[in-house]
Amino acid sequence: MSLSSPRFSILHSFLIMLCCSVITAKSVAQSNTNDSIPNRKWWKEAVVYQIYPRSFKDANGDGIGDLKGIISKLDYIKSLGVTAVWLNPIYSSPNDDNGYDVSDYRNIMSDFGTMADFDALLKGMHDRGIKLVMDLVVNHSSDEHEWFQQSRSSRTSPYREYYHWWPAENGKPPYRYSLFDVNHDAWMYDKTTNAYYLHYFSRKQPDLNWENPKLRQEIYDMMKYWADKGIDGFRMDAFQFARKDTTWPTFPKGYEKNFGQYYYMVPGLHGYLQEMNREVLSKYDLMTVAEGAGNTYEDAHDMVDADRHELDMAYAFDGIDVAKSTGYSVLKFKQVFSKWDSVFAEKGWLSIFLANHDQARLVSRFGNDRPEFRALSSKMLSTFLMTMRGTPYYYNGDELGMNNPGFTKIEQYRDKATLNEYQYQQNHGADMPAYLKEIAFSSRDNGRTPFQWDDSKNAGFTNGTPWIEVNPDYKTINAAAQEKDPNSCLNYFRKLTKLRKDNLALVYGKYTLLDKNNPNVYAYTRELSGKKVLVMLNFTGKTAAVSTPFGSSNANPLLCNYGDSAKTVKTELRPYEAVVYLLN
Ligand code: NOJ
Repeated sequence: MSLSSPRFSILHSFLIMLCCSVITAKSVAQSNTNDSIPNRKWWKEAVVYQIYPRSFKDANGDGIGDLKGIISKLDYIKSLGVTAVWLNPIYSSPNDDNGYDVSDYRNIMSDFGTMADFDALLKGMHDRGIKLVMDLVVNHSSDEHEWFQQSRSSRTSPYREYYHWWPAENGKPPYRYSLFDVNHDAWMYDKTTNAYYLHYFSRKQPDLNWENPKLRQEIYDMMKYWADKGIDGFRMDAFQFARKDTTWPTFPKGYEKNFGQYYYMVPGLHGYLQEMNREVLSKYDLMTVAEGAGNTYEDAHDMVDADRHELDMAYAFDGIDVAKSTGYSVLKFKQVFSKWDSVFAEKGWLSIFLANHDQARLVSRFGNDRPEFRALSSKMLSTFLMTMRGTPYYYNGDELGMNNPGFTKIEQYRDKATLNEYQYQQNHGADMPAYLKEIAFSSRDNGRTPFQWDDSKNAGFTNGTPWIEVNPDYKTINAAAQEKDPNSCLNYFRKLTKLRKDNLALVYGKYTLLDKNNPNVYAYTRELSGKKVLVMLNFTGKTAAVSTPFGSSNANPLLCNYGDSAKTVKTELRPYEAVVYLLN
């Protein structure tokens, strides 16, 4: 199978999906005195820092990051100026999919620590004014969860209807595409009861049956358990897949090229969200965000329209999907972000992100990780993330400008999805060297190498053997070195979080795209209560002209990634230059 085969590109797009320093960060504190901003919420004003616990900091030397490791870095996290943390799953799990296969929703994964560690972590965060958002993985559980063990044990088990089963005497079930299965087949035969169970992800991640009110109640009770512990929000993993058409129609041949049309937000899903809101969310001050935003802007909007009482903010992949291994069009990037902004201009709220644990590294994907441009382009991209409307989600390590590790051998990868797809491609005669090259860009493991704390062995991540290789560039790219450098990516990021905090225009202000057809520069204003902030970003490694109505007029420079200032608005930007001005 060739690289351009549909199968290949499906996985590729899913993996992509699933996946200066300063002048002075002058504050425009005046705009913060404005009390007339409607619907102010803490989660709209938050900067969310995403921590992948497995790769963040290992405290016990087993080579795997853990909760005590995170606790030891709380002051660092606080120093970033972020106000909330989204933790990837930390529940008990056999780790077929690094915690996205939960075997006990009310316990902590032994690799990560204990419930006492969790309580200490939550307290440590709250003591520092940081909120905690937990991953909630309820489209599927682990096959090792007690519910599934019971469910598979007999057709009459009270847990049978917690999952989707197809009796084998009815023949083979209608084909369902699985995103992680080595054969792409989402129905797995189980001989104990002579039946197939459904798994959209790996075989060890059977899909839960949301049609069953008992299952839904179990989930709500579990959510309350965590909410009562005092957590501040949920990121709902793969929730747009939760509803299935259980008449199991036959989908058209080749539907997997566009499986989202068949899998995302099947009618009835909004009903589940409304019920969840009534039963749980409305009773707490929780922030909620679902991974994925359906197939249409309407779906996305409906999910977060406050009057519908579902969730708080949408997390849409269109922006991140613009960049492929072959590059991307800045015009398209601008178009996509502008369109999404317009859909939520009056109502609803968006997440802004360009990286997470399922994606390539921010700077390798959207910037330029060559040594001469790595820091500049990383700072430019961070400027984008911190100046758009919506809640920014910033992935750990991006504040250092960490980049893809450049793996060249399949043995270096750990991600099940990558390994299974490698096997699939091999079984189907694909061009394997080309595939290896492709995953060096797109595999989820690119974003999962250990956090680079310092230049000691294993980047200070662990005293043991890290579960996945450390990027060899840690000798030069690490937090300790960047702490000492006022112009580092790390210190620039701190200025950005402060800038956002001090300027509510950057949170709530109206977004207006400027110089729309400029293929190199992304320029826009953010405007609130008479305060106007201008952002200009050169997305290329060449000097680029920019034309705005403010060109050459006087303005207050707030931040520039080159570390110098111009008191008049620039009409030309240096390679990967980012500048932010206050216009009035
Ligand atoms: C999306 C998560 O972000 C990803 O890491 C996981 O593998 C799938 N959902 C399945 O849970």
